[in-house]
Amino acid sequence: MGFLTPNNIKDFRSLYTLQVRYLLSTENQIVKGLQSMIENTTDDQLKQAFQTHLQETQGHVSRLEQIIAEINDGDVDDKKDPIITALIGSGENIVSESDKGLLRDAGLLATAQKIEHYEIASYGSARNWAQVLGFSEHVELLQQTLDEEKHADELLTTIAQQTNQRAAAAA
Ligand SMILES: [Fe+2]
Repeated sequence: MGFLTPNNIKDFRSLYTLQVRYLLSTENQIVKGLQSMIENTTDDQLKQAFQTHLQETQGHVSRLEQIIAEINDGDVDDKKDPIITALIGSGENIVSESDKGLLRDAGLLATAQKIEHYEIASYGSARNWAQVLGFSEHVELLQQTLDEEKHADELLTTIAQQTNQRAAAAA
């Protein structure tokens, strides 16, 4: 079984369409993943960061739905992204292998940053492809989301500096 259905990618536009459909699946899975990460986090600052990013992620879903409706004949359909499934699964492993507390928080923080980096790479390509295709409104929408992903990642880096120290001291 191939990663892609053969002949799905016929030209640059269909390559772009597929990319944004993968992104919709990514974001839909992250909405669920973040809800579980919020429940499993004890650090207030981290919980707050996840909650803020959950709200932003719901906005990311709306932007992608708008884009896909325009280029996919109104058919807003995602394409299951196995990479994000695996990344979220790695967070679930952290939860099952740790007690609630700082160590788990530090592990989930690292998982969240892996997810952010994956999203940053994916949105960067999608924005560039939209640019090449002349979809200037899409470029703007994708750039807004990319900026929010980068900001979320920077915030997590800042939180990690404290959380990691506290996790190491607690252990
Ligand atoms: Fe996102």
